[in-house]
Amino acid sequence: MPDPDGRSRILILGGTAEARRLADAVVERHGVAVDLITALAGRLERRPTLGGRMRVGGFGGIDGLAGYLDAEKIDLLIDTTHPFASVMSRHAEEAAIRAGVPRLMLVRPAWRAGTGDDWREVDDLAAAAALLPSLGPRTFLTTGVGGLTDFAAVAGAWYLVRLMEPARAPLPLPRYETVVGKPPYDPAEERRLMEVHRITAIVSKNSGGAATEAKLTAARELGLPVILVRRPATPGGACVETVSEALDWLTRRL
Ligand SMILES: NC(=O)c1ccc[n+]([C@@H]2O[C@H](COP(=O)([O-])OP(=O)(O)OC[C@H]3O[C@@H](n4cnc5c(N)ncnc54)[C@H](OP(=O)(O)O)[C@@H]3O)[C@@H](O)[C@H]2O)c1
Repeated sequence: MPDPDGRSRILILGGTAEARRLADAVVERHGVAVDLITALAGRLERRPTLGGRMRVGGFGGIDGLAGYLDAEKIDLLIDTTHPFASVMSRHAEEAAIRAGVPRLMLVRPAWRAGTGDDWREVDDLAAAAALLPSLGPRTFLTTGVGGLTDFAAVAGAWYLVRLMEPARAPLPLPRYETVVGKPPYDPAEERRLMEVHRITAIVSKNSGGAATEAKLTAARELGLPVILVRRPATPGGACVETVSEALDWLTRRL
């Protein structure tokens, strides 16, 4: 229900480029008719610039999020977290049901293998690490700072680890180098990085999206294998793939 000023309050669960684009698009289309809040987990030091207000930090599980939706009188919830942020998405599903708040998920499509791709699909990072000994000693890890311990025990392995921000502590790997970079990435630059570091395999989550797919193009051009971690299951409920579909969903409900 709109607030006394007639504004609808919308909560976007963010942390992705789509969440940023959606926030900007909502403010551009609806201006003062909405009170928009984007929630970020706060993993990165640098905060994005985006339309509306920003809230940083976890809610405290399902109870915390359900309580927040209630207390803040949120009218609509859009879960635009990363396809691998499965804990948050499950919490959003449950909390929205409890609080009686309509919820939409915006999940960008997964990547699909094309001609010339050498992809090995696995269910998790541990399975990715188990494949490495058969693919050569020098791996480009693009799966983020979490879950690296799965790779620590691979005998003789060396890693190039890409991070969004410089590591705050040594990584739990015996032999590695880091490269700090922010999407969008360029295929030629990705190729150069792989050549300079004599990469023999790439490990990636199947995040989907144009901003980080350059590594897949570069791997195809160089004939390198890519170990791709499959996505976790998406929770139930309404789901769209694009920012414009999410904007339409929201507009119909205001
Ligand atoms: N997982 C990835 O590969 C990946 C990649 C790129 C970006 N991200 C982004 O980074 C954030 C954290 O990812 P994750 O994999 O750690 O998620 P997660 O495992 O699904 O969530 C862990 C906890 O982090 C808090 N959280 C997550 N997203 C939040 C948000 N948008 N606003 C407020 N709290 C949030 C929640 O804490 P409480 O239980 O206390 O509420 C949640 O229970 C997400 O926003 C995601 O979109 C993730």
